[in-house]
Amino acid sequence: AANGGDHHHDSSGTSMHRLTKVSVIGAGNVGMAIAQTILTRGLADEIALVDALPDKLRGEMLDLQHAAAFLPRTRLVSDTDIAAVTRGSDLAIVTAGARQIPGETRLNLLQRNVSLFRKIIPALAQNSPEALLLVVSNPVDILTYVAWKLSGFPVSRVIGSGTNLDSSRFRFLLAEHLDVNAQDVQAYMVGEHGDSSVAVWSSVSVAGMPVLKTLQDSHTTSASASMIMKEEALEGIRRAVVNSAYEVIGLKGYTSWAIGYSVANLVATLLRDQRRIHPVSVLATGFHGIADDHEVFLSLPARLGRAGVLGVVDMELTHEETKRLRHSAKTIWENCNQLGL
Ligand code: NAD
Ligand code: LAC
Repeated sequence: AANGGDHHHDSSGTSMHRLTKVSVIGAGNVGMAIAQTILTRGLADEIALVDALPDKLRGEMLDLQHAAAFLPRTRLVSDTDIAAVTRGSDLAIVTAGARQIPGETRLNLLQRNVSLFRKIIPALAQNSPEALLLVVSNPVDILTYVAWKLSGFPVSRVIGSGTNLDSSRFRFLLAEHLDVNAQDVQAYMVGEHGDSSVAVWSSVSVAGMPVLKTLQDSHTTSASASMIMKEEALEGIRRAVVNSAYEVIGLKGYTSWAIGYSVANLVATLLRDQRRIHPVSVLATGFHGIADDHEVFLSLPARLGRAGVLGVVDMELTHEETKRLRHSAKTIWENCNQLGL
């Protein structure tokens, strides 16, 4: 094309940077928390919002537009029809769908949200054939597989938000436990986003120091040190991570702020080609003994950039961690397999 490359010209002949467009499908609690954080951080030039409820959608768009005087300039558009507003998106984030009622598991949402994806994903793929797809709706690992199948996109461009959020909860709890800043805690939850997620204790470090080993080497130093060493204490923290969403849903009805920040964090890495490593849901076939004929998406640390998934880190896991990860993979695979996609 005449205006090809990274720049195009407007009618006055001024050279302009190519605009970055993000679509958010589903303007509910999660979609709006994501849109708000993207706006605040100035990560997109245009945000297209899509929801099935026209009044709620327009209300949300207007409410954000009325904050224009306090935000980086961003064009906001909305429509109930994907084809009307999402065309040419660089990134499409899918948050539409049913959410858990208190006590309900994420897996319970599967059938309802697969039906929705059958409508949403082909329309997105058709209107933005070059986009990155970022799936947030639950159960996120299975729906990322569904989005991959229904879009026909290369696997590097279909990503699930996965355990980026669980890892943040893990780092928060560890930071509280160790009385340090969560940003200085390196720790990963991998596997399924949800009940079978795996805490990779062997890789937890603070300021580059492996926490478990340090504590084992100096088990006389402090009461808190000997406490964290104990298996039960470790399992207690993992359970608290897994229970986090149930607790918040029980208290306020849904989760939104943490997932909003967690997804905006992924958006920044993707659109700004930061090549940071995030635990997100990617095709995990062949990793950690996951059989070659099992096409399963689950979270592993992945290097992300403007082209999507640039690589997956082959983490060193203990025997026990590998066993748990395979169990997680099995749960997800059994669900994907019965969808017949
Ligand atoms: P919500 O009910 O507030 O919002 C869902 C929205 O989807 C609604 O506004 C609804 O009108 C819309 N919708 C329904 N059908 C649609 C269609 N065909 N096209 C466009 N929009 C449509 O729910 P929520 O709290 O925002 O949660 C949304 C999803 O995100 C749920 O599946 C939830 O489990 C999931 N979630 C995932 C994570 C994660 O870490 N992956 C975290 C929190 C929530
Ligand atoms: C979460 C959602 C419910 O906040 O998956 O973990």
